[in-house]
Amino acid sequence: MAEVSTVAVVGAGTMGSRIAYRALFSGGHRVVLTDTDAPRLDKVVSEAPDVAQRMCERGFRTRPQVDRALRRFSGTPDLAAAVADADLVIEAVNEDRKLKLDLWRRLDRYCAGHAILATNSSTYFASELAAGTGRVHRACGMHFSSPLTMLSLCEVSRTPVTEEAVVDAVVSFLRRLECVPVVLTGEVFGHVCNRLLLLLVDEALRLVAAGHVAAPDVDVAVKTGLGFPYGPFELIDHVGFDAMQEMLREAAQRGLTAPPPVSTQEGSGGVSTR
Ligand SMILES: NC(=O)c1ccc[n+]([C@@H]2O[C@H](COP(=O)([O-])OP(=O)(O)OC[C@H]3O[C@@H](n4cnc5c(N)ncnc54)[C@H](O)[C@@H]3O)[C@@H](O)[C@H]2O)c1
Repeated sequence: MAEVSTVAVVGAGTMGSRIAYRALFSGGHRVVLTDTDAPRLDKVVSEAPDVAQRMCERGFRTRPQVDRALRRFSGTPDLAAAVADADLVIEAVNEDRKLKLDLWRRLDRYCAGHAILATNSSTYFASELAAGTGRVHRACGMHFSSPLTMLSLCEVSRTPVTEEAVVDAVVSFLRRLECVPVVLTGEVFGHVCNRLLLLLVDEALRLVAAGHVAAPDVDVAVKTGLGFPYGPFELIDHVGFDAMQEMLREAAQRGLTAPPPVSTQEGSGGVSTR
């Protein structure tokens, strides 16, 4: 297919707003952002000139470049209008299966036939979300790392029937965004990064729960001995204990890790470092 020219980003939250800005200022695409939360949508759209200003001040972009980009940016709470002209739709709504399934069915109705549908979900596969649509062959996962302002990775995963042209178009789109694409041959829980991080966190919790070492010392060991920028317990604090526990439960259910050996309630064994 031809290059992606117009992108619709569905969900103007933490990820969607950053993906939209990136596609706008780095990719030079026409970007339409949509969200059911109108004040949030307005905020992200109205802050774009400030983002542009900072990029100019830091020498990343010139004034004419950002002015051109800003003219290509719009937001609307109307999903049908937002995606009507999109070559690529990136879904970044809350991690809620029912919400996403319902949304994908509507996207299928509103999008042009050639449009690619991608999900930024950390948990749900594009094949599952696209199952109720006629577009599994034009669907894929695009898992951007967070924070997108500092990390440029996007893990791309294909459904069993994603067309090669779709993967090519997504990879070329990501390169224009100055993102680094890593393409997986299929769909795997946790992609690459979360899968490895979950194993690290799981083992760290087991070491502390068994009384072999204190949590802060695990962080010191991982940062000093392995050269990681942060330790597993700092990561738990960053992601949030509940969210991390949910991911660990999911990892254990999917057989990635053994069931938790002990209660990892907040505070036990020095688990919470905040
Ligand atoms: N936050 C992260 O670090 C991170 C990293 C990688 C991937 N992800 C994935 O990105 C997705 C979004 O996560 P987030 O942290 O940006 O969430 P968020 O809660 O910050 O934002 C979600 C947005 O979706 C909007 N929304 C909900 N239903 C909608 C609908 N029907 N139509 C349009 N908008 C709707 C909400 O109003 C909200 O603004 C999730 O699937 C998550 O797994 C998150």
